[in-house]
Amino acid sequence: MSIQDNFRLAMRRYIYSVSIMSNKDDEGGSNAITVSSVTSISMDPPSLLICINKAARIHDTLKIGSKFCINLLNKDQEELSNICSDEDSYEERFKDENWNIEEIPFLTNAQANIFCKVDKLTSYHTHTIVVGLVEDANHSNEISTLTYVDGSYK
Ligand SMILES: Cc1cc2nc3c(=O)[nH]c(=O)nc-3n(C[C@H](O)[C@H](O)[C@H](O)COP(=O)(O)O)c2cc1C
Repeated sequence: MSIQDNFRLAMRRYIYSVSIMSNKDDEGGSNAITVSSVTSISMDPPSLLICINKAARIHDTLKIGSKFCINLLNKDQEELSNICSDEDSYEERFKDENWNIEEIPFLTNAQANIFCKVDKLTSYHTHTIVVGLVEDANHSNEISTLTYVDGSYK
């Protein structure tokens, strides 16, 4: 097997928490993409990173200083995760009634919402590493995080 095959199989053993990254573009249109690459960086300053494929629609809307939200999903939000990771379901992404799209779009029924401002963009081949400076965050009391392992939700 190739290094890539072995790497892919090794990474499938990780348990990922599933989030939806959401924002508005310059024209005011809402974007959402399912992501598992969210990692906290530090508390001082409060910051996190996400790796976004350059082919994803949200990619070119991520500019220094632009705002986005990381919505950590609940176990019952698998369908929305599928919609936001299926390029053919783009038109359905904001049909869920739990979106608040008045300003930065966020899911009112997520496990957590982490509101960020893009602080740094680092290109790495197919992806851009997006560093977000955290401006606000909230969470629900019950822990029921949607997880993904070996290609399936758990
Ligand atoms: C569980 C899961 C995690 C994902 N994590 C990421 C990620 O961290 N970064 C990324 O660019 N795409 C990730 N994807 C793939 C995108 O969600 C998918 O390619 C999406 O369709 C791209 O957005 P677009 O259809 O708006 O172009 C993930 C997909 C799934 C199902």
